[in-house]
Amino acid sequence: MKNPAKAPMETMLRGLPMQAQNEIHKAMDNIGLALSIENPKVAAALAPSAVRGLVLGAGKRGDHVDMQANHSAHYTLSYQGDFTEMYDLYRRAVTNQWDGDADLPWNTDVAPDNHQAAILPRSFVPFDAIEGFGVRLTALEERRLTWDVAAWILSQFMHGEQGALYAAAQVTESVQWMDGKLYGATQVMDEGRHLEVFLRYLDTKLEKIYTVNDNLFVIIDDLMTDGRWDIKFLGMQIMIEGLALGAFTTIYQQTREPLLKQLLKMVIQDEARHVHYGVLALREHFTKNLSESERREREDWAYEVALLMRNRFKMREIYDEWFSHKISLKRWDEEVLQAPGMLGFRNIMFQRLVPNLEYIGLMSDRIKAHYDKSGLTQYLGGKNATQLTADELTAEPDTGGHDDEMPAELHSLITS
Ligand SMILES: [Fe+2]
Ligand SMILES: [Fe+2]
Repeated sequence: MKNPAKAPMETMLRGLPMQAQNEIHKAMDNIGLALSIENPKVAAALAPSAVRGLVLGAGKRGDHVDMQANHSAHYTLSYQGDFTEMYDLYRRAVTNQWDGDADLPWNTDVAPDNHQAAILPRSFVPFDAIEGFGVRLTALEERRLTWDVAAWILSQFMHGEQGALYAAAQVTESVQWMDGKLYGATQVMDEGRHLEVFLRYLDTKLEKIYTVNDNLFVIIDDLMTDGRWDIKFLGMQIMIEGLALGAFTTIYQQTREPLLKQLLKMVIQDEARHVHYGVLALREHFTKNLSESERREREDWAYEVALLMRNRFKMREIYDEWFSHKISLKRWDEEVLQAPGMLGFRNIMFQRLVPNLEYIGLMSDRIKAHYDKSGLTQYLGGKNATQLTADELTAEPDTGGHDDEMPAELHSLITS
């Protein structure tokens, strides 16, 4: 829908100092987010977290945030094995534990000017847009910017892993399956190890850690404070882990830095199990335990969070550091999501996410129409997490004669 306030707003902004323009753009953008959520229940559920994250900036103040977790623990009295597939995942997780210290080559030398071992390909940075804005970067600045973008992305992974650690612990308490509790204990360990290795990589190799992105903070805060275990699970195991798995896979395939490649490979193998467990638990719960209106609410919630994840990770912390005096935030926001590497990772994310939502019963014809409007139904019918193996997720890319920085799978997704 065309926003009637847009033209006068642009006229009003013109002539104001850049910083004032940016503050007004941020405020309008946040209001735009609130107005774009169509389902009132979903809007009401996300509102307190949105206020804490977007208005109060709670993810960027002080050294910690207290989040009230309102779930109840399900204490079993029967001790019966009750879900064979979950038990199998538990056994697999126990045998595949790894040591974040001993199993990774931490003595690898990681440096921004090592072309042979570039952390990220250039396609992750919107260099064309930056040039289009009239900003000229030297070769050294380009390498530094790519390094900072890598630090920004990996920092967001680390913040997500901390959220995953707490969500896994809470869900382990709450689920009703004995075998789910056993499995959950291994996931808590996995997420702790993921936090450990991302933190260590950022701290000792990139020597830079960015604060949590405001929109990621909103989703994590919402999951932590919602008492319903299945919402925590849907948000963490399907949405955030789906996003992370898409990003991990894309960077795993494209990085030339051997330590990061190995680290991501190990993490992807764990995450594939986590998403598998998530879809098993949620399919059972959504199809057997929920009323139609409860199922519908989850379906709307997942759709809104999917759009939030697609549209709002705009690397604003990078903007603040590099371009806040050179380009308006509005123009940055318009361009940053179009960098080919970012497009590629969002495509992979939806390729993973949409079949999982379908499998767990959150893709009725009603909501399909919304996904269709947003151009996301092309991923229907793809492989869900129960059908994908970790080997498939970490397969070496087939570059297929295209741009040598981009696997053929990504190339065709971007150009289709
Ligand atoms: Fe993780
Ligand atoms: Fe995970």
